[in-house]
Amino acid sequence: MSVQTLFPTLIWHAPLMRSRGEPLRQRLLHECLHLPGDDLAGQRWSAKNYPGGYTSYGSVCRLQTVSPTFAELERRLRRHVDAYAVALQWALGDRALVLTDCWVNIMPPGVVHSLHLHPQSVISGTYYVRTPPRASALKLEDPRLDRFMAAPPRRADADREHRSWVALPARAGEVVLFESWLRHEVPPNSAASERISISFNYAWT
Ligand code: NI
Repeated sequence: MSVQTLFPTLIWHAPLMRSRGEPLRQRLLHECLHLPGDDLAGQRWSAKNYPGGYTSYGSVCRLQTVSPTFAELERRLRRHVDAYAVALQWALGDRALVLTDCWVNIMPPGVVHSLHLHPQSVISGTYYVRTPPRASALKLEDPRLDRFMAAPPRRADADREHRSWVALPARAGEVVLFESWLRHEVPPNSAASERISISFNYAWT
């Protein structure tokens, strides 16, 4: 082959459970819906940092330590994170990938989560709890975008792996993992109701 592909950006996207995942999703949904009412600090933090929506990122951000339901989510995420690390060909040595933070995001119609990355972590991801029709996707940015300078744009019909942005559909019951340095955003939620997700970070420690 004359053309070779180097330095890939790997994304993990799979159903959380191979089967019978619905009861756990329902329990998580129930807890997600009740959390804002019990979290005044989170409501205040969200009003300032997450306009129109609710996130427990600034208040209750270690839900796996306070809720058995979220602790079960952590156990179910394990095989995904381990398999993703294998795919990345990481040499973890005697340090482990540990879930550090796990928080809830509730996005009513029209709410956005602008472009960001997840500092202090190595793997980040999201589990989708409720995704009504037309719920916004997760938009990932080509990590080399700021180096392209004078490069011509890619064709509008370019293959997925050649695009500058790729939108991963948000589907309830599924988990997405990416390396924490990968910039991403959630465009305005165009669904008629709330898009609910649980996000998390893993550190190598
Ligand atoms: Ni994020």
